[in-house]
Amino acid sequence: MKILVVGGGGREHAIVKCIKKSKKVDKIYVLPGNGGISNDEECVNIGAKDIDGIVDFAVKNSIDFAVVAPDDPLVLGAVDALTEKGIPCFGPDKKAAIIEGSKVFSKNLMKKYNIPTAEYAVFDDMEKAVEYLETAEMPIVIKADGLALGKGVIIAQTRASALTAVRTIMLDRIFGESGSKIVIEEFMEGPEVSVLSFTDGKTIIPMISSMDHKRAHDNDEGLNTGGMGTIAPNPYYTDEIAEECMNKIFLPTIKAMAAEGRPFKGCLYFGLMITPKGPKVVEYNCRFGDPEAQVVLPLLESDLLDIMIHVSEGTLDKADVRFSDKSACCVIMASNGYPQKYETGFKIFVPDDLDADVFIAGAKKCDGLLLSSGGRVLGVTAVADDLRGAIDKAYDAVSKVTFSNAYYRKDIGAKALKVL
Ligand code: AMP
Ligand code: GLY
Repeated sequence: MKILVVGGGGREHAIVKCIKKSKKVDKIYVLPGNGGISNDEECVNIGAKDIDGIVDFAVKNSIDFAVVAPDDPLVLGAVDALTEKGIPCFGPDKKAAIIEGSKVFSKNLMKKYNIPTAEYAVFDDMEKAVEYLETAEMPIVIKADGLALGKGVIIAQTRASALTAVRTIMLDRIFGESGSKIVIEEFMEGPEVSVLSFTDGKTIIPMISSMDHKRAHDNDEGLNTGGMGTIAPNPYYTDEIAEECMNKIFLPTIKAMAAEGRPFKGCLYFGLMITPKGPKVVEYNCRFGDPEAQVVLPLLESDLLDIMIHVSEGTLDKADVRFSDKSACCVIMASNGYPQKYETGFKIFVPDDLDADVFIAGAKKCDGLLLSSGGRVLGVTAVADDLRGAIDKAYDAVSKVTFSNAYYRKDIGAKALKVL
């Protein structure tokens, strides 16, 4: 089969490497991919948001199956456009991708169907939001409605900072048009768990749980980033909590989406918080998380492409979905200064005999050399019998991968080890 993967980060590199193991694959194209992915597969410089370009390429190259990985093209309707041309896809259509595309939609969905989440209020009028904040309890969480590159969330400790947050989102539009509406919600506390799941709109199969490390620096200090590392499985996600999530969150969510005429097919990501009152939804994403995919997919023992085809055909109940009982740890190596200002253009060296996977996120090819070109440059993932082993192996590999100006957290998995 000829496969097309849309996207160009570490997540896409992990997806491509996993799909490649399938006997059904003859050729994989990645749009746009990146310098690192191009070492393995053919990358074509068509942007992930260029829906017409993607469809045109897919038709001209007789693609048999497409995987749309990032949120932007999903929310823009890439799957609808490809399906219209008769190309089967893995990923939700536009109607279902709104579960990530609009926080107002997802909060209202959870309220209507009684799915546990933080209490909230929605505002499109700044004066009303300011009035609400006068009596609200602090800390409080303020979120822009639309996609904001994972940065549209502000946790305000004081009333003054909450008011500033509302003004900068609604008036100064720091997150662009996604700030025309906001959600103000209750601050929740507890460990966070990411659960990615396969669903065809009727059946839902959770993948192995994981833990992201969103802050830039050790001990969860510094700015929020796209994710500085992950481990799987997440020890806070016990069998008991998994069962509660299935009954109160996962099944109700896919039933709610179907009842709304928006059946979700693809990877539905549940960002959960295990609060003293039980697990609650922090956010939904309509795609694989990054860097969650970089620990979850290396633990998948069955055929990813086969599962994706079952999802697309609505026969997920017949799919073989199996995960290893080992542990994985992914350490992101970033450009020093990320998520703010950083320098790029440095030569990346990865030894051939590294005992780990390297998923390239921000790198370009220049005269045969691989040069850093982004904030998150690459992810190093190791798998071992237990979490301690996976962490040690990942950091050992990280010490052998070099580029100037590299920065990484030294404590990925440390919090998880404490509860084991
Ligand atoms: P999101 O972009 O929705 O994933 O939010 C980014 C991060 O903000 C989450 O991973 C949480 O750590 C934090 N967060 C979001 N909503 C809440 C909330 N209601 N209470 C506490 N923390 C939150
Ligand atoms: N790692 C969080 C996300 O992919 O949204």
